[in-house]
Amino acid sequence: MNKKGRVLVTGAAGYIGSHTMVELINAGYSVVGVDNFSNSSPQMIKGVEEITSTKVPFIEADCSSKEDFARIFEAYPDIEAAIHFAAFKAVGESVLQPIRYFENNIRSLLYLTELMTSKGKRANIVFSSSCTVYGEPDPENLPISEEAPVKPATSPYGRTKQMCEEILRDCVRAYPELKVTALRYFNPIGAHPSALIGEMPNGVPQNLVPFITQTAAGIRSELKIFGNDYDTPDGTCIRDYIYVCDLAKAHVSAVDRMLYCEECPKYDIFNLGTGRGLSVLELVNTFMEATGVDLPFSYAPRREGDIVKVWAKPDKANSILKWSADTPVDQVLKYAWNWEKRIREIE
Ligand code: NAD
Ligand code: WQD
Repeated sequence: MNKKGRVLVTGAAGYIGSHTMVELINAGYSVVGVDNFSNSSPQMIKGVEEITSTKVPFIEADCSSKEDFARIFEAYPDIEAAIHFAAFKAVGESVLQPIRYFENNIRSLLYLTELMTSKGKRANIVFSSSCTVYGEPDPENLPISEEAPVKPATSPYGRTKQMCEEILRDCVRAYPELKVTALRYFNPIGAHPSALIGEMPNGVPQNLVPFITQTAAGIRSELKIFGNDYDTPDGTCIRDYIYVCDLAKAHVSAVDRMLYCEECPKYDIFNLGTGRGLSVLELVNTFMEATGVDLPFSYAPRREGDIVKVWAKPDKANSILKWSADTPVDQVLKYAWNWEKRIREIE
């Protein structure tokens, strides 16, 4: 018998959503997942069921359609909190298809907020935001804290994250029953230790780690490292790579706090990162050392729009959420490789 309340997870079949479903169930929460599989497959929900040995309540629905989304609240009137992952997330695609991005990402958030606050009960929302809201940080702001300025977005995707944060800020002012926690993720990587769930990008991966694992699997001929003439120790860009299971656990801490802390702020923001910056080259070398795979790579011109260096100051999440991202990156890269090998049926 579950002791904790029900948490709605939108985008539950996605990369971060599926890992968070596992952690919520392990922490004793009842859940209900929703996804329209626009960027995922039902296989991920099966993976969550296998890992947790439970039947996972799940409804296939489109969060950007109010009628469709409302079905979940009719079926599960006991929802106490929602974690909102459902969104489109490809930066380049958003530049080409801004309306599609605004429609999906903004509508989904508006309907979620409306449906949550129309229940006449307390409403708690955790929102998936991104370090992209900081843009290129000024060097004196590194590591970057939640107080650092939000810079004008460089893509419609980034703009949806900024807009959603602002919409939620206005809504907590207007609706006394609403509490919001915005979580700004740095670079999530890796897969569940079971290799039953992980990242599954469509087409050619844009993100570094899936490109590395697909190259190691022989699907791509070589990794191109975008730029080795940046103002960094080895000339390649620096990021804060955070293990997806550590990230998932932060969502449980955020939900715990919203449900059980009466005096905590109605709107709060947390950076979720390790606090350590790693260069692209360091990550590639760590992958080779950790897995024993000799990864073919070469240097290519800089990728337009790339930030040079950014890493988190996660102190606020460490102290208030009592959470930290501690899994060593070599272990995380092994998990990413195990996942790739399993889905490609490599021994
Ligand atoms: P993902 O694409 O794997 O997961 C998103 C899920 O939402 C997918 O399963 C997709 O099918 C679903 N979805 C999209 N629109 C929907 C809709 N209208 N109705 C129902 N389901 C819908 O992405 P992810 O990496 O798991 O990201 C989750 C969230 O975290 C997103 O909001 C993303 O912007 C944010 N985020 C991701 C990263 C990252 O690098 N992965 C970094 C910062 C923030
Ligand atoms: C990391 C580093 C690349 C691929 C993106 C989004 C951001 C956020 C996280 C959602 C960079 C280099 C990459 C390759 C490479 N998502 N690289 N060769 O750009 O930090 O952030 O995902 O909110 O909004 O922009 O992540 O994994 O694409 O790149 O050299 O084939 O790897 O240049 O330095 P990024 P990434």
